[in-house]
Amino acid sequence: MFTPPPIARDRLPALLAAMPKAELHIHIEGSLEPEMIFALAQRNGVALPYASVEQLRRAYDFSDLQSFLDIYYAGASVLLHEQDFYDMARAYLARAAMENVVHAEIFFDPQTHTARGVGMETVIRGLHRACADARAELGISASLILCFLRHLSEEDAFATLEQAMPFLDQFIGVGLDSSEVGHPPEKFARVFARCRELGLHLVAHAGEEGPPAYIWSALDVLGAERIDHGVQAVHDTALMRRLADERIALTVCPLSNLKLRVFPQLSQHNLKRLLDAGLVATVNSDDPAYFGGYLNQNFTEVFAALPQLDARDAWQLAHNSFAASFAPEAQRRAWQDRLAECFAQHAGN
Ligand code: HPA
Ligand code: ZN
Repeated sequence: MFTPPPIARDRLPALLAAMPKAELHIHIEGSLEPEMIFALAQRNGVALPYASVEQLRRAYDFSDLQSFLDIYYAGASVLLHEQDFYDMARAYLARAAMENVVHAEIFFDPQTHTARGVGMETVIRGLHRACADARAELGISASLILCFLRHLSEEDAFATLEQAMPFLDQFIGVGLDSSEVGHPPEKFARVFARCRELGLHLVAHAGEEGPPAYIWSALDVLGAERIDHGVQAVHDTALMRRLADERIALTVCPLSNLKLRVFPQLSQHNLKRLLDAGLVATVNSDDPAYFGGYLNQNFTEVFAALPQLDARDAWQLAHNSFAASFAPEAQRRAWQDRLAECFAQHAGN
């Protein structure tokens, strides 16, 4: 196992920003900045219930997941045309590339758009073209994960999968997001079984606000390969052991957890505890336009709030982000080698 060289604490922010990393939990609709919401509203003639960018931003004062989702779905209502989806994803990928994100696995919520009459092809073509162009022009690798909205029915999820069938080569997996409590993974057992037959990767949000039981069923009923959030796992010792033993990654989102009051303060976040228990934890931004920061800010703020996190944890988190990604193994190893080089350089400076 690589042991990172000693690095002074005051040099951690620069290291966190410079290190190559993967982002595995980003909802592309959650990267829509208020300025772009207003620009797209004007371009598409969509009326918004907010008078200005500032007024919209002031509404970003959330008390829990649902209070966020209501505003997040309203923001996404300005997306109508393929170019809108392209512009949104290109903006995120440009920002991510600047932050030394070398690979992103990007969630999208097609039901939010198809329910408004936007075609599945419009959504997927726009997002996929942005990923292809970003790879060619920015050198960042990116793939798409289609998320089912868990507050909607199983039937709606099956209809969504059917609409996405012609584009199976343009997304790598499926996920499960939206309102967690009251919508357990079991509701989507049959849809996920079908997706597994289709050869898609499977992930699911579980244990963000919901109980450890939802993490167990995401694993055992859905066959999820990664758990999105998963921070409630600490309340179940047997589950913690299972996640560590089976190397099931958690895509943790510190600023999201703070803004949606999963933890009252960042200093109470359990990221260090998850790492110390041997879990494959990663750091991610979730919905960066809404939660006050992109990936590097999630890293720097959580490291500032938890003084026990050190350079070894930084290396472990970035290393985990590649290990937990769905990229080919040779590619993952190449990124991990670049990570080791980055640490060696920082120790020398
Ligand atoms: N949880 C559930 N659904 C979501 C989230 C989240 O953090 N972000 C966007 N959709
Ligand atoms: Zn999420």
